[in-house]
Amino acid sequence: MADHHEMTKTTPKEFVMATLGGLFAPGLAIFLIVMLVIGIQSRLSGQDSEATADKAVRERIKPFGVSVAIDPNAPRVEMAGEQVYNEVCSNCHGSGALGSPKHKDAGAWAKRIAQGWPVLLDHAMNGFNKMPARGGEPDLTDLEVARAIAFMTNAAGAKFEPVLKKEVEPTAAELARGKVVYGENCASCHDTGVTGAQKLTDAKAWEPLLKQGKDYLYTAAIKGTFGGPAKGGNEKLSDADTRMAVDYMVEQARASVAKAAKAAKPEEKKKAAAK
Ligand code: HEC
Ligand code: HEC
Repeated sequence: MADHHEMTKTTPKEFVMATLGGLFAPGLAIFLIVMLVIGIQSRLSGQDSEATADKAVRERIKPFGVSVAIDPNAPRVEMAGEQVYNEVCSNCHGSGALGSPKHKDAGAWAKRIAQGWPVLLDHAMNGFNKMPARGGEPDLTDLEVARAIAFMTNAAGAKFEPVLKKEVEPTAAELARGKVVYGENCASCHDTGVTGAQKLTDAKAWEPLLKQGKDYLYTAAIKGTFGGPAKGGNEKLSDADTRMAVDYMVEQARASVAKAAKAAKPEEKKKAAAK
């Protein structure tokens, strides 16, 4: 009976207010929260946005190591060779530290220059004895490293272009030597296709391989990182000879690919048939 007594004390007006309050209070609370969030966001996207974005970028690049030499906030415009030299390479090459060839010392550079551009590029990119890969600055792009090498070597009498394309065509003598090496060490598999070796006449097999570039093929042949034997199984074979064998293989494979491409064109086919 007590309950009934309480109920009767509530006037209809009170009842309506209580109901409305019950319905709208949570709605009001949600509305206020939304307004608060919008308020915070608009404040952030105002004058603070630049600092926030800046911070976000810094956070993102942090795991890759913030470089001392390269300002992480600077727009990534690839540096000129001289700038790369000044900021990175001069740490050693400026004084000849660790036995590095000293900048502008033509005598110290002559033998190195004579190795040719691809070797210099390879050594600077990947490291060579105490020469750290990319001069110890992994943030340098390939082109920046190439430009720095060209800057240093040209200051010591070379005339290199800072090209990344390492595919210097072999000379006729190198190809001839490559053919001999190939005949002695590689033909047993690559002429026949035994054990799955790519036949030189197999354009389909070689097309994707050629796209990998010669450096990949050299490494694959020298180290055997492809499933085939390192140096064709002849560990006495020098790296240089193996490269020349690859040069020869690439030349043959390119011819096969070109022939296949020609055969695929009906017009060319007709012409060939008319001959
Ligand atoms: C920590 C020291 C150090 C820094 C920094 C450094 N080098 Fe070197 N670099 C060496 C040393 C040492 C050698 C000699 C290695 C040898 O012949 O054993 C060398 C050799 C070279 C060679 C010749 C390789 C050859 O095959 O003879 C090139 C090219 C080269 N450095 C490029 C660069 C470039 C480009 C940079 C800057 C991006 C750079 N180095 C930064 C220490 C350094
Ligand atoms: C005993 C057989 C055998 C001999 C000898 C051999 N190869 Fe191979 N080679 C293979 C096989 C098998 C593959 C293919 C592996 C695969 O499936 O990619 C291959 C692949 C290659 C490739 C392509 C790399 C790739 O990613 O597939 C190159 C380049 C190559 N060989 C170079 C050589 C050279 C150079 C020689 C001689 C110095 C040689 N091979 C001798 C079996 C041989």
